[in-house]
Amino acid sequence: MTFVRACGLSELEEDTPKRVELDGTPVSVVRTEGEVFAINDICSHANVSLSEGEVEDCMIECWLHGSSFDLRTGKPSGLPATRPVPVYPVKIQGDDVLVSVTQES
Ligand code: FES
Repeated sequence: MTFVRACGLSELEEDTPKRVELDGTPVSVVRTEGEVFAINDICSHANVSLSEGEVEDCMIECWLHGSSFDLRTGKPSGLPATRPVPVYPVKIQGDDVLVSVTQES
């Protein structure tokens, strides 16, 4: 599993997703509830950036049709999305947020 630096921990504001591109994969990095999560930035329903949505209760909401995805598992909470979005392992090293996009967790 290869981890690459996504951003600095201090760059992340609570509940404000940050979009990064890692090895060509768009990833939304989210700091919430004392943890950092990495989820694929593209909604599984249509080609919409999840990092433009709101974060609440460890879920990120797609702004277009309102499906929310669990940041821990990528599973949608309800329609219209039916398929999960990939989530990725995160490691914190000092101020570096490292994400592995080579293996989905
Ligand atoms: S594009 Fe995300 S729920 Fe429709």
